[in-house]
Amino acid sequence: MASRNSQPSPEPLDPLRVPAHVAIIMDGNGRWARSRGLPRAAGHRAGVGAVRRAIEGCRDLGVRILTLYAFSTENWRRPSDEVGVLMGLLHERLVAEAEELQRSGIRVRIVGDLDAIAPETRAQIERVEAMTVDNQALLLNVAFNYGGRAEIARAVRTLAARVRDGRFGVEQISEQTLSECLYTAGLPDPELLIRTGGERRLSNFLLWQAAYAELVFLDLYWPDFDRHHLVAAVSEYQQRQRRFGGVTSA
Ligand code: IPE
Ligand code: IPE
Ligand code: MG
Repeated sequence: MASRNSQPSPEPLDPLRVPAHVAIIMDGNGRWARSRGLPRAAGHRAGVGAVRRAIEGCRDLGVRILTLYAFSTENWRRPSDEVGVLMGLLHERLVAEAEELQRSGIRVRIVGDLDAIAPETRAQIERVEAMTVDNQALLLNVAFNYGGRAEIARAVRTLAARVRDGRFGVEQISEQTLSECLYTAGLPDPELLIRTGGERRLSNFLLWQAAYAELVFLDLYWPDFDRHHLVAAVSEYQQRQRRFGGVTSA
């Protein structure tokens, strides 16, 4: 797969129509490594640079929220050594990047089921989240042990418990109140969802929130992702007609 998007250079961006929330399925680390005769772990390591470029690129474009898919609830099906590499990388990067994220004004949150994460990593997550809580330049959500279905089921449990305890009426269950029980409570839905790696599927990412997201699929492996690809994706987003089920005036 080419490391550059093969499309012509993007239209100049309209600064007034930059998406507020961009979500990215960071896929293709394993194939990037295999194409170089390297172990899959090397692909995951190489992906770290692309994460940095995505964060900086989004911040510089004026994106307010970036949600990155780093580990799915289904990724436990991988060989245990690869799962270990991904867990280790989360911990290592949280330690190594904390200061720089803080300096850059990035607020970090980890979204997903953290019960299955090592206690020392959970402690580091809490440290970085607390340290960056007031930062305003960009909100970075890292989806880790995240699954869209698990997230919706968790929200339903929260609402059901309120009903059971008599704090909530069944008729109060609505799209609004359910949204407020998701990890993304209070945040706008992603307008733009990018997937690298060439697959055209959601793989259980932001199933609720992506209802009307514009989907952009990039035929490149995640470690090759750079600012140009981000700009190209935002440019494509800006050329789409969003109708939300309605009709556009001529
Ligand atoms: C994405 O790359 C990273 C994670 C899913 C954790 P992959 O590891 O899925 O890479 P491919 O898709 O096998 O190339
Ligand atoms: C999606 O990629 C999950 C992440 C990027 C974290 P996968 O590689 O796990 O997705 P599938 O298995 O190809 O659908
Ligand atoms: Mg993959």
